[in-house]
Amino acid sequence: ESTPMVLPSVLNADFGDLGGELQRLTDAGARALHLDVMDGHFVPNLTFGMPIVEGLRRHTDLPLDVHLMISDPLRYAAPMVDAGADMLTFHVEAVDDPVAAAQTIADLGVAVGVAINPDASMDQLEPCLDHVDMVLIMSVQAGFGGQAFNPIALERLRSLRNRYPDLLLEADGGIKASNIAEVRAAGCDCFVVGSAILKSDDYGKAIDELNDQIAA
Ligand code: DX5
Ligand code: ZN
Repeated sequence: ESTPMVLPSVLNADFGDLGGELQRLTDAGARALHLDVMDGHFVPNLTFGMPIVEGLRRHTDLPLDVHLMISDPLRYAAPMVDAGADMLTFHVEAVDDPVAAAQTIADLGVAVGVAINPDASMDQLEPCLDHVDMVLIMSVQAGFGGQAFNPIALERLRSLRNRYPDLLLEADGGIKASNIAEVRAAGCDCFVVGSAILKSDDYGKAIDELNDQIAA
């Protein structure tokens, strides 16, 4: 378990003014950015790929945490690293061999995360837990921002935290000021927050409130 961190997701950003959004998030105190890559196949929604990651990379030094919601994560792993990703998270449901996937990504020299949707069995994660830097417990079904937090994530976080005191744990989906404290209490380190920041009219105030809730 490490110092807790809120990672704004740009999924709900104004994509017509991504530079402005990047500046506002930086000014608001963001310490890393979570980038949701969707392929319209693994999830029924499309977002962006390498060009946007690369463009953000040229304009910020913040760590880029890239969440691959795509059917063939290994096909795009090296291009995403070239584009500037600092961490690549693949979905366990998307690969045949999660251990090999984790090793392939680690060999590219970036941190590796493995994500799991609420409806997938945690058994799938077991083999690769010793081969990843982070586990991303989805607290909504991957695909869209603005969904309600699924409490199944809390028991999953608690159970992983008990068994792996040092594993980095991230939660993503439906996190806001009113529930982030219980996500923290379950053992989460990295809190992905989309709409509760990007749909507020004061990003700095929103991030401060979230940070206040998770302060030890
Ligand atoms: C959902 C994405 C999330 C999303 C979270 O598939 O992985 O990162 O942006 O958005 P909120 O915080 O609005 O649930
Ligand atoms: Zn995400």
